[in-house]
Parts: sequence; C-alpha cells; structure tokens
Amino acid sequence: MYRICLLPGDGIGPEVIGCAEQVLGALPLELEFNLAEIGFETYQRLGTPLPDATLDKIRNASAALFGAVTTPPNIQGYFSPVVRMRQSLDLYSNLRPIRSIPHPTSRSGINILIVRENTEGLYSGIERMEDNGQRAITERVITRKGSERIIRKAFEMARQTNRKTVHLVHKANVLRLTCGLFRAVGLEVAKEYSDIEMKEMLVDTCAMELVRAPEQFEVIVTTNLFGDILSDEASMLVGGLGVAASGNIGVDAAVFEPVHGSAPTLAGTGKANPIATIMAAAMMLDYLGEKEQAIRLQNAVVSSIADGQVTSDMGGVLTTDQATKNIIQRL
Ligand code: NAI
Ligand code: MG
Repeated sequence: MYRICLLPGDGIGPEVIGCAEQVLGALPLELEFNLAEIGFETYQRLGTPLPDATLDKIRNASAALFGAVTTPPNIQGYFSPVVRMRQSLDLYSNLRPIRSIPHPTSRSGINILIVRENTEGLYSGIERMEDNGQRAITERVITRKGSERIIRKAFEMARQTNRKTVHLVHKANVLRLTCGLFRAVGLEVAKEYSDIEMKEMLVDTCAMELVRAPEQFEVIVTTNLFGDILSDEASMLVGGLGVAASGNIGVDAAVFEPVHGSAPTLAGTGKANPIATIMAAAMMLDYLGEKEQAIRLQNAVVSSIADGQVTSDMGGVLTTDQATKNIIQRL
C-alpha cells in the first residue's frame, strides 16, 4: 500500500489535484490519500504558507502530489512555500521529462530528461544589499556534494531509461569557480559510467541547440537557475504548460507537481487542463516502482490528446472533469 500526500494549494490547484486523485483511484493499486495544507490561503488562516505538519505529512508519505500555490504581491514575512519545501526536505533533484505528444503545438522526435539541481546554485537564498542600496549581491553556492549527487542521479536515470548520453551543461569558461567545480565533479563521475557518454555544453549554446535540434539530447544535467530556465524553454517544444510535469526528489521524500501555477483567473471555470497534474501522478507511480501503471496512465493521456478529447487551452471543448473522465475511460 502507498500513502500519497495530496497538497492542493491555491487557485486551480485543488481542482487538478482532485482530477489526479480520481485517475489514481481508477488504477488497481492500494493507495491511501492524506491531505496537507500549503499556500496563500493557508497563510491567511494559519500565519504560515507551509505548516510544520505539512512537512511531516510529506516525510511520512510514500510520495506527495502538489497542485500549485499563489504567491501574493509583497507581503512582509511571506516566503515561497515551494522553495522552502524543497530546501526543508532536501529535494535535491528536479526531474523534468520533455516528451513529444501528438498535438500541433508539439514537435516530434523529442524525449529528453532534464535533471536540475534543486537546492543550491544562484537560488542559495544568500542575498544582501550594499552601499546604501546601490549594490545588490546574490551568492551562487556550488558544493562538491551537491554537484556529485545530482550528476550521479542523471547518470543513474540515463542507465535506468536506456539512454546513452548525458549532457553536462555549465558556463565554466566564465563562472570559473562555481561552474568549474560542477564541471570537474562531472568529469569525475562520468568515469564511473563507461556505458554512457558525457558531453559538455555551455548553457547559452544549449539554449540555442534546444530550439535548433532538440532530438540530439537524451539527458541534460545542470545547476539550479540554468535548469529552471532550460526546462521551461524545453517544455514549450512539446505542448507547454498544460501538459508539463516535474518531480522533486530527495533521499527520503518526493513531491511531484505540474509545472504551471495556480492560474487564479481559471479557478472555478471548469477550464483548467488536468493533464499536467495527471502526468505528474504518472511520474510519481514510476518513482514508486509501479512502472506498468505509470505507462498505462501516460498512454491513456496521450491517446486522449491524439483524439482531441482535451480542454480549450489545447483546442478541445471538454471541461476539466470531462477531460479527466475521458482519460479514466481509456485506462
Ligand atoms: P500560471 O502557470 O498560473 O498561468 C500562466 C498561463 O497559463 C495563464 O494564462 C493560465 O491561465 C494558463 N494556465 C496555467 N495552468 C493551466 C492549466 N492547467 N490549464 C489551462 N491553462 C493554464 O502562471 P502565472 O499566471 O504567472 O501565475 C499565477 C500564480 O501562480 C502566481 O501567484 C504565481 O506566483 C503562481 N505560480 C505558482 C507556481 C507553483 O505553485 N509551482 C508556479 C508558477 C506560478
Ligand atoms: Mg520555473
């Protein structure tokens, strides 16, 4: 039996999480769902967007599925519960599959896994103002430990998915110390994987190559900010926000989520596309070792897209609930 922690959050978060719960419930698996609070509404009620009880529930679950949260404009004392959750649970790897779908907005022949470091780099949170507000400084922190575990994760994922190359993406020609360390660790780790070829690429070249010839990539591993940008860029090659899913994986906790935000203007209209969250649920099943059910779920989603049985953002006419029911019928 798996204990699944559901984190609905704000806006369309609760709607799309409800869809994923329905779809998961239709599979022949023993799942126990446990709700946990996160986000702006939680903050307004409890004074924090990420209660300790939520972190405990995620730690005690087999895996968690997260919708989205609304980040309010400047409120003193408010912090991003997403960044805090990743840091508190040490969810050091952010996995973003980029796979072609049968839809006019998707290019064909693409199957990339982007592996992004999720806890350090330029998102270290170490910032200060100097010279009476005339100079702002953010520290970019790269550690040997942080680099080694994310690069190892990329090679392990390559092996597990029968991929033959890993692109190590950096900017070591300019960021000589931070990217230099990341690169040096990459060269070391690569020696342990003689079955997989490591290719190096500068991040700006990678941004360009992703648009020019994305088929060349199998696995991309990179630091936090670079991975954030490249993975958003790449998601637009294969259908974009309505379908993009990601996983945040640590040593003893994992949180899966759609890439999109809380889309407040869509909340309650029945127009939210549930596919990104359902694909996140499929990633979660894969992580739990339920490969067969994960593939079954992905196939059902892909066939609903091929038949145009989707919400209006993808050119269909179905509501959130109808699109979900359609996927369930195809399982
Ligand atoms: P967004 O992703 O919520 O929306 C961007 C655009 O995509 C909007 O036009 C929206 O209607 C559309 N969209 C998003 N998800 C959709 C879905 N499932 N189906 C159909 N259309 C969809 O990003 P935006 O508007 O920049 O931010 C809204 C709020 O979400 C903000 O408060 C932001 O801080 C938050 N946010 C939260 C994230 C998270 O919780 N991980 C990630 C990104 C933004
Ligand atoms: Mg992002």
